Amino acid sequence: MNIEILQIPKIEDYRGNIAVIENDIIPFLIKRVYYLFDVPSSARRGGHAHKEQFELLIPLSGSFDVVVNDGKNQKIISLNKPDKGLLIKSNIWRELENFSSGAVCLVLSSGEYLEEDYIRNFDDFLAYVNHK
Ligand code: TYD
Repeated sequence: MNIEILQIPKIEDYRGNIAVIENDIIPFLIKRVYYLFDVPSSARRGGHAHKEQFELLIPLSGSFDVVVNDGKNQKIISLNKPDKGLLIKSNIWRELENFSSGAVCLVLSSGEYLEEDYIRNFDDFLAYVNHK
């Protein structure tokens, strides 16, 4: 599946840790940064795929689950460490759920916000990936 867990380089210190993301550790140039916060525990986010854009999801605080589906297989990835991110390449359906209280999901994206890059209906997604 077109996903990968990325270990983010960190500088550990008794005063606290620093995790550093530079463009050489991710396979795209960062064009946009956004984050999800104050997400109710019962909420589901995502529910779409990107035709071209890549994203790296990082649980800056707390935890949540990402359900990923490539049109054939589904996996559930739990994110709960601020130095481990989930890289989602193109054509992967994703849903985010089970947010802990205070969870913050940082998203680094390869593109600016572009509604044309989204597939927001799961049947359309299946048709899209199966006819590629
Ligand atoms: P949406 O993609 O549905 O959020 P999520 O996948 O996290 O559940 O986005 C919700 C709304 O925010 C939608 O109207 C589009 C808008 N939006 C932007 O304008 N810019 C952005 O960078 C993002 C991620 C969303």
